[in-house]
Amino acid sequence: MCGIIGYIGDQASAPIIIKGLKRLEYRGYDSAGIAVLKDGGLQLIRREGKLSNLEAALNLKEMTATLGIGHTRWATHGAPSEVNAHPHLDCTQKIAVVHNGIIENFHQLRHELSGRGHDLRSQTDTEVIAHLIEEAFTGDLYQAVKDALTHIEGSFALAVISSDSPDMLVGARKDSPLIIGVSPKAFFVASDIPAILDYTREIVLLENGEIARLSPQGYLIEQLDGTPVSRKSMTIDWDISAAEKGGFEDFMLKEIHEQPAAVRETLRGRIDENGRVGRVGLDDLGLDDDELRSLKKITIVACGTSLHAGMLAKQVIERWARLPVEVDCSSEFRYRDPILDEGTLVVAITQSGETADTLAGVRIAAELGAKVLAVTNVVGSTITRESDGVLYTFAGPEIGVAATKTLMAQMTALNLFGLLLAQARGRSNHEFAATVAELQRIPEKIASILENTAVLEDWAKTYHQVTDLLFLGRGFSYPMAMEGALKLKEISYIHAEGYPAGEMKHGPIALINPGLPIVVLAPKDSVYEKIVSNIHEAKARGATILAIATVGDKDILSQVEGVFYIPETLETLTPLLSVVPMQLLAYYIAKLRDCNVDQPRNLAKSVTVE
Ligand code: AGP
Repeated sequence: MCGIIGYIGDQASAPIIIKGLKRLEYRGYDSAGIAVLKDGGLQLIRREGKLSNLEAALNLKEMTATLGIGHTRWATHGAPSEVNAHPHLDCTQKIAVVHNGIIENFHQLRHELSGRGHDLRSQTDTEVIAHLIEEAFTGDLYQAVKDALTHIEGSFALAVISSDSPDMLVGARKDSPLIIGVSPKAFFVASDIPAILDYTREIVLLENGEIARLSPQGYLIEQLDGTPVSRKSMTIDWDISAAEKGGFEDFMLKEIHEQPAAVRETLRGRIDENGRVGRVGLDDLGLDDDELRSLKKITIVACGTSLHAGMLAKQVIERWARLPVEVDCSSEFRYRDPILDEGTLVVAITQSGETADTLAGVRIAAELGAKVLAVTNVVGSTITRESDGVLYTFAGPEIGVAATKTLMAQMTALNLFGLLLAQARGRSNHEFAATVAELQRIPEKIASILENTAVLEDWAKTYHQVTDLLFLGRGFSYPMAMEGALKLKEISYIHAEGYPAGEMKHGPIALINPGLPIVVLAPKDSVYEKIVSNIHEAKARGATILAIATVGDKDILSQVEGVFYIPETLETLTPLLSVVPMQLLAYYIAKLRDCNVDQPRNLAKSVTVE
């Protein structure tokens, strides 16, 4: 997510803005910028890279203006660069905008604005907002912002200033957070509390669809349709560290709770009004329908959690597109002299876009003439520059080393890709529309899981001192059994193993000692009866079974030690729900073992070396 801060008051705004942006650095960014009033106009300074690059370009002594806005950019549309950095100006260079969110109809808006003679200089979606405000401006900046926002589809948190309105700072939000900071002689807008905690602990939360007008004397809030809003301020008693985690104890827990948003933002603009997977939000894919139709094979390469997303994608793509898919961990793929040709699409899944083994695999694929599609969460990452196309996930920056919301976004994007392949290959059927509709209900279903975690906390209390734990699954649940084991291993340091349940009888069942805890993914799906048989096999040998089952399944209650229920959904989408209790179980167990869940021992967020 991008970081926003705006200031209007009795002090020089630039130092306050820079300090506020520093407080937002933890969120991850690739460029930064500031705009302040100067000599009746606007002074705009932006730099790619770290904030220190921006600071080096500022002469704070000369920047005395008491009105300004600043931004740290996490690129979504348009590579990281100075020209794409915020703030963005209109043609008159009198209006400056900073934005966090995704404008779904920006292609159309860019086309229309250019057609009306506007000079758009960046590749960003944000810039269209500055030009829409310019067109609506007739002397009242606040009204012009309200009018401009009526043309915007998508998510936004905005701060806007104009050299023609030196006593006004405007903030507005829809589906992206924005707060107002209140102090006796100054007022702030910010995307997150840490940005302003050095100056005030009094904040007012802006709710969805609200807009605020701030002056050196106070603030006014309305709904975007003009309905007045009266809202009291609240006092924040968090320290900076707690504020960075949004009040959660750890980034990992915060990011587990950000998963509904990760799904919504990854879907945003990619399903059209007819309930089909649209091309608009997939403009970086680099593969037209003819190319999708002509594919003979897909080879997926990835590591760790991303490999588990790939294992799931294999089943989803083969289910929808009936196209053969093989999956390999990148460290094996790069040395096995793979059989690839122009009929093969290599799909490289890497949230960081920097994993050395996966990058090596991509280079081999290119040498062998295969097209490469990268699935990544980082715009401008290395893999995006070495692939033929990119399928972006929009989970926002992930701080915890253990991948959670980025996996969720990967599974969302890869389901979309499977559906798009089916569409292109003429295979979309009656299930298709139901799947697209259900995919859009997944965020609320994840949210319902996050509201009922007591069972998982009890399991953690009972089992946090075990030395071994198994995770079993079949079919679409098998990749998630692997992921559940990895999550537990990497943050609690307990030996855990994910396994295809049907394979236990071929050896590993010998492992079962009385009381060995086994988490079994047992959703109501096409292999439910089979997984119940596997539960009986394990129980007969003394195992303790903890089942993750579909709500309403009463039969399973009498057959296992404990059940955590997930909402009903389609078989292909069940992993997006079943992974959540396993993430939480690993988290609670690790916390009881006093492990550092955000920075586990021996691990790096991105393994950029072999
Ligand atoms: C997942 O929790 C781990 N942090 C690790 O396995 C990670 O998924 C793997 O290193 C791949 O990273 P990437 O997605 O950035 O390529």
